[in-house]
Amino acid sequence: MATFVPPNERNARSPHLPFGDHRGAPFYGKDVISVSQFSRTDLEYIFGVAKEMRAMVERVGTFDLLKGKILANLFYEPSTRTSSSFLAAMERLGGSVIPINEVRYSSVAKGESLPDTIRTLECYADVIVIRHPEVGSAEVAAKYSKKPVINAGDGIGEHPTQALLDLFTIKEELGQVDGLTVTMLGDLKNGRTVHSLSRLLSTFVVRLNYVSPEILRMPPELVEELKVKGVSQKEFDALEPVLAETDVLYVTRVQKERFESQDLYEKVKGAFVITPETMEQAKEKMIIMHPLPRVGEISMEVDDDPRAAYFRQMEYGLYVRMALLAMVLGKA
Ligand code: NCD
Repeated sequence: MATFVPPNERNARSPHLPFGDHRGAPFYGKDVISVSQFSRTDLEYIFGVAKEMRAMVERVGTFDLLKGKILANLFYEPSTRTSSSFLAAMERLGGSVIPINEVRYSSVAKGESLPDTIRTLECYADVIVIRHPEVGSAEVAAKYSKKPVINAGDGIGEHPTQALLDLFTIKEELGQVDGLTVTMLGDLKNGRTVHSLSRLLSTFVVRLNYVSPEILRMPPELVEELKVKGVSQKEFDALEPVLAETDVLYVTRVQKERFESQDLYEKVKGAFVITPETMEQAKEKMIIMHPLPRVGEISMEVDDDPRAAYFRQMEYGLYVRMALLAMVLGKA
């Protein structure tokens, strides 16, 4: 029988332990801070629940699994997809949302600290989703919250729910992950989505290619971390050498807001643009992904190509976020 742990001791006892660590309801009460928390078994479980969520949304649209539960959606950085998909996910599950998308209109603008904001929201909500410009901020929030905290992006650190939906997209679109060649392109230095996705993919047998301008390379510590795990990784400054072997082309935006010098940003911003001509060199069975927003890296003429998966990717995100909310609230 599972031991009952009072809510105020939950985090003290199990600060974002690997998910599969508990018997009974394995995901109940857990934070989602980094993809390193997930084993392959956890991933299978999450994707199984996500598929059930998709079936339910297609059948009935909205249902009452999380009726009476409240999500605090706390965004210190701009967001369209992540914030609205968490909101939609909660509402489709019958729950409700405290949306704080404009922290400048909240007490944060008066100088309130992150721990105090979290202490406030945990009084009112059952789960907190946070996006914040500083690496490690979600971890700090989780430390101060007795309620589960979900990291929706901590600066250039991680974006675990995006990586989960990215992986779900790959599985649904290509049928499997093992054996694939995944090429990540763009701002690999500052892009948190590629940091989380490459880590998550290291649980599988994949070949990773990193294509970027010299100054936007994948952080060396991350490359080292994956090397130790035996992942095959190669770095390039052009797409041509690897395009023909690529199964997943993961394009990212140059992260303007992370640059200290706008001149430097201007120099690298147009480094890569995917056009229909680029796609002529790609496999027939492959997909192009992008966490979005795009700001010119993929030309709009590519959108009608069946290999363009980036709009479908957004929809997969709804089901994965529904699954995660239901799981951390002990309902899946
Ligand atoms: C990404 C992010 O915020 O890291 N967007 C998203 O969540 N879909 C990617 C980006 O902003 O470039």
